[in-house]
Amino acid sequence: MRNIRARTVLLAGGLSLLVLHLCKDFIDLKTTKTISHLHLNVKRNNPQIRQHIKNNSHVFSWQRCQQNMSIANISGFSSLPGSIKDFLYHRHCRHFPMLLDLPDKCGGAGKSADVFLLLVIKSSPGNYDRREVLRKTWAKERLHNGMLIQRLFISGTTSSGFEKKRLNKLLEVEQREYNDILQWDFSDTFYNLTLKQILFLEWMERNCPNARFLLNGDDDVFANTDNMVEYLQSLKDNDGSKHLFTGHLIQNVGPIRSSGSKYFIPVQVQESDSYPPYCGGGGFLLSGYTALVIYNMSQSITILPIDDVYMGMCLAKAGLGPTSHMGVRTAGLHIPSSSVDGYNPCYYKEVLLVHRFLSAHMFLMWHRIHDPNLKCGSS
Ligand SMILES: *[C@@H]1O[C@H](CO)[C@@H](O)[C@H](O)[C@H]1NC(C)=O
Ligand SMILES: *[C@@H]1O[C@H](CO)[C@@H](O)[C@H](O)[C@H]1NC(C)=O
Ligand SMILES: *[C@@H]1O[C@H](CO)[C@@H](O)[C@H](O)[C@H]1NC(C)=O
Ligand SMILES: *[C@@H]1O[C@H](CO)[C@@H](O)[C@H](O)[C@H]1NC(C)=O
Ligand SMILES: *[C@@H]1O[C@H](CO)[C@@H](O)[C@H](O)[C@H]1NC(C)=O
Repeated sequence: MRNIRARTVLLAGGLSLLVLHLCKDFIDLKTTKTISHLHLNVKRNNPQIRQHIKNNSHVFSWQRCQQNMSIANISGFSSLPGSIKDFLYHRHCRHFPMLLDLPDKCGGAGKSADVFLLLVIKSSPGNYDRREVLRKTWAKERLHNGMLIQRLFISGTTSSGFEKKRLNKLLEVEQREYNDILQWDFSDTFYNLTLKQILFLEWMERNCPNARFLLNGDDDVFANTDNMVEYLQSLKDNDGSKHLFTGHLIQNVGPIRSSGSKYFIPVQVQESDSYPPYCGGGGFLLSGYTALVIYNMSQSITILPIDDVYMGMCLAKAGLGPTSHMGVRTAGLHIPSSSVDGYNPCYYKEVLLVHRFLSAHMFLMWHRIHDPNLKCGSS
């Protein structure tokens, strides 16, 4: 009994030493500005956080964004699905600490103009196999036609307890090997995809503001990034300093009001019955200029949980619009009949992007379209 108590005391003592040690590091923050070994990157220009750093006594109370309790007072709140309620409670939360950061990914803000195409791929922690295959196929970091292609996966956290810890550890190990992950400490759910998008744009403005073009997409699309580079090079303005936002254009639609749908948006989230034109979120191409304009606009637009529509809202507010690119097939390819192989590489050689591929198909297709002996009819 005494033994146990003694050990408890020792343990408690050890813990408080650890706490003191951590505390010292946090206070050091004032001068050193980074605490990289904790993988916590404090957003320094957030006034609330700055205040915390100033008042040493408060350095520990990293302000988790608080739920907006008065939202429960809006009419009809109690009958909304749980996920929508959860969204509404946290809708105003836009700042989360980074767990994995890569401030030098683009060679520093100043050199970031060397990055011609930045691949920004939404991937949640559990999708290890998808990331692995993308690293070996269309998202390989390389030069194509002399143009630099760089890759970033953007992620939040999932699960809880040990499983959450394991998945975070997995990303850490991947990061050590590949240096291609940005991770924030928010829960990586469908309704938080817009948040992920905004956090990325904020990161980009800070660390990679001059990247010429970006492909923003999901980790289950097949993207012909060689064709993308060639298409972008062929533009009159191919330095990324002009507006470009192109993909699978969707127009004249509005919120789905039936609560069974994955895309359900009740009037409590958006009153208006229409969405501005936008590009399907499976994947779209945009210029570095447009990415920064969208980020600017996002600061004054309430979050809508559908990320691709939200990008359309930001464009509309800036007086800009998306365009359609026939090569982006987020709704799938038209295969003439069921008697032909839907995975014939000739269908994929000319496109820019196709929605959904299993990892094995992705791997095979990337190799087949690069086969020098591949023969396709004249197209
Ligand atoms: C920091 O200290 C000042 C002055 O003591 C106080 O007014 C302010 O509320 C504190 N800020 C935070 C975030 O604790
Ligand atoms: C909700 O509304 C009631 C009545 O108007 C009010 O008394 C209460 O303070 C409100 N709750 C919150 C959290 O705003
Ligand atoms: C919380 O919700 C209320 C009611 O919708 C709203 O008026 C208020 O602006 C919200 N607060 C924040 C911080 O978003
Ligand atoms: C978004 O992430 C925050 C932080 O982890 C979480 O509190 C919130 O519930 C999430 N929102 C949704 C709709 O999943
Ligand atoms: C974004 O806003 C800032 C400050 O308002 C401005 O200086 C900058 O030029 C804007 N950038 C773009 C690309 O619109």
